[in-house]
Order: sequence, then C-alpha cells, then structure tokens
Amino acid sequence: MFNDTVLKEIDDIRARYPERRSALLPSLYIAQKEFGHLSSEALLCVAKTLNLPEADVRGAASFYSMYRHKPLGRHLIQLCTNVSCMLLGSEKLADFISEKFRVEPGGTSADGRFSFVIMECIGACGTAPAMLVDTDFYDNLSEEGIVEILEKYK
Ligand code: FES
Repeated sequence: MFNDTVLKEIDDIRARYPERRSALLPSLYIAQKEFGHLSSEALLCVAKTLNLPEADVRGAASFYSMYRHKPLGRHLIQLCTNVSCMLLGSEKLADFISEKFRVEPGGTSADGRFSFVIMECIGACGTAPAMLVDTDFYDNLSEEGIVEILEKYK
C-alpha cells in the first residue's frame, strides 16, 4: 500500500476534481514515481485509493505511453525519431546512444543507469532532433551535445 505521504498527495489531487476518476492519470503518475513502474501491486493501490474498478485503472495505464510497466534504469532517455528529427539525423543519434552508453532501444544498460526508448514527435520539430531525459527536454541535439547532457545523469 502507499505510504502516508503518497496517500496525501493523491488525496490532494482527488480534492481538485468533482469526480474521483478524474484523478486517475495523475495518481498513476504518482504511483509510477513511488514504485518505479506500474506493477500489478501499484495498479491495485491506485484502484483501492481512488475506489475505482481495477480493470479501469489497468485500461488507463495500458493506454498511455508515459506509463511504464517494467522496471527501468535510473534515468529514461526518450529520443524522437519522427520525421523532422529523422531528417536531421536522429536515427544516427539513436545508434550513437546505443553504442556509447551500451543501451539498446527498448532496453536498459547493464549498470542500470539508463533506459532508452524511441518516441514519437515531442513537438520540437522546429529545433529537431529532440529528446527527453526523465522530464528534462533537450533539442538541437548532436553527438557531442548528447554526451555533455547525459554526463549530468549518473
Ligand atoms: S519530429 Fe521530433 S520533435 Fe517533432
């Protein structure tokens, strides 16, 4: 079950909405932060805390790509390879990240430092290529820039 701090955080969110269902997505995010990913236990905790059917909670969690269903590394690299980013070299950057940081797309490095996923457009097409590291946004990427950026994430 959630600890008191997490329960209060979810209660505060629930209080903002007339329907408890409206607090589902932010509550899933809190659970993900707390558990590291949305395990069955985490989903059950959210369902119980919001008094919602577990199937509804599972359905929402499986629909949105920002929710993680397996353990990740300490930091999550999300690189866009959609059209603008691809035209400006993001596929080469994906290969560079895989080789330099020893993490394949969809995988986690052996040291647990990074998980790496390829993602769809993040709305930075004008300053492509772009990526997120955890919740931090970076654009105008180059190989040198990526090394400098990822150095900050231990
Ligand atoms: S195509 Fe990469 S940010 Fe839009």
